[in-house]
Amino acid sequence: MVDGERLWRRLSELAEIGKRKSGGVTRLSFTDEERSAKDLVASFMEEAGLSVREDAAGNLFGRREGSDPHAPAVLVGSHVDSVYDGGNFDGPLGVLAGIEVVQAMEEGDVQTGFPVEVVAFTDEEGARFSFGMTGSRALTGHLSPGDLEHQDGDGISIAEAMRDYGLDPARVEDARRQQNSLAAYLELHIEQGRVLEAEDLPAGIVTGIAGPVWLRFTIRGESGHAGATPMNRRHDALAAAAEIVGVVEEEASSTPSAVGTVGQIEVKPGGINIIPGRVDFSADLRDIDVAVRDGVEERIRERAEEICVRRGVELGVEELQRLDPAPCSEEVRGVISDACREVGIRPHSLSSGAGHDGMHLASLCPMGMIFIRSRDGVSHNPKEWSSREDCEAGCNVLYWSVLGLAGRT
Ligand code: GLV
Ligand code: MN
Ligand code: MN
Repeated sequence: MVDGERLWRRLSELAEIGKRKSGGVTRLSFTDEERSAKDLVASFMEEAGLSVREDAAGNLFGRREGSDPHAPAVLVGSHVDSVYDGGNFDGPLGVLAGIEVVQAMEEGDVQTGFPVEVVAFTDEEGARFSFGMTGSRALTGHLSPGDLEHQDGDGISIAEAMRDYGLDPARVEDARRQQNSLAAYLELHIEQGRVLEAEDLPAGIVTGIAGPVWLRFTIRGESGHAGATPMNRRHDALAAAAEIVGVVEEEASSTPSAVGTVGQIEVKPGGINIIPGRVDFSADLRDIDVAVRDGVEERIRERAEEICVRRGVELGVEELQRLDPAPCSEEVRGVISDACREVGIRPHSLSSGAGHDGMHLASLCPMGMIFIRSRDGVSHNPKEWSSREDCEAGCNVLYWSVLGLAGRT
């Protein structure tokens, strides 16, 4: 059985890195904060008796051998980077629970047939470069050299940030793992929704992960004097953007399940007495059904075009990323279901609205996820919270799932 106290202590210790006054954390990818978080995680991996290494993309691994050293490994983990002013559970829980599981096996003298590896993926959140899952893309061969050109708000590319972090972007291909090298990928994560709370359950089984499309809209109008330009002579880029933001909300709301969010907006020149001449804003569209999501996107694009023609402004739309929804493996879902019963939890299935590294891992090996209950469904927010008891219960489900996948010998 896992040590819930130790798991909680490590979560609290990790929460100190990049800590903000709000109580949340900002640990962006390829920064000193992410480095410090990985160093702390590496020290926990060593305490758990794991052999530690970092790959060419900065993914951190701790490995425990199985009785068959040539068998494919069961990979468990998550990420330790965060969004701006994010919570303390999104990512760290999955990494630290993975370490706790293998440490419990070590202490209980439990031997598995397959090796077990714990991973802390690099740059899952995508907060810094509006891209994300850089580590798992590299591991699965889904990262192209062009992807490393994505820039942060200061114009620093992923490739430059990697160099500053001590990694060689030209060698990122070395992080790729071969087909058949992994027996399964398993991630414990907070739900970030309210389903488990409503079901009064500490943990549940994920059926699949919704697919995100991230777009960048650019509107070019005409800047001018806010006092001297009559209303009927304006080409206000922000007024056009405001209409389109409303359309994003309206179109996503017109379906039962899609979600649409504008999370970034930049107005230029940005003076109180200047008509905005240019606006850049993002859109994040998701659904578990790709046809529904793409339908929403198509209608947003059409209506944005109409708005811009009517207002005499120019519209540009750039695609930052497009991922298909990823179903979880039936086999892994079955194993998690058995693990829930083992721990005394009624197996309950639910889908994930949030993105996870498993979306990429699914192309390499069977992929599954365990969710634990989130308080009020709040996440990407300092108030994000899951109880110590639920973290422990989820970690026990992870323990039995890993045993089920790696085989006890
Ligand atoms: C990350 O948490 C995402 O879903 O964007
Ligand atoms: Mn996460
Ligand atoms: Mn997240």
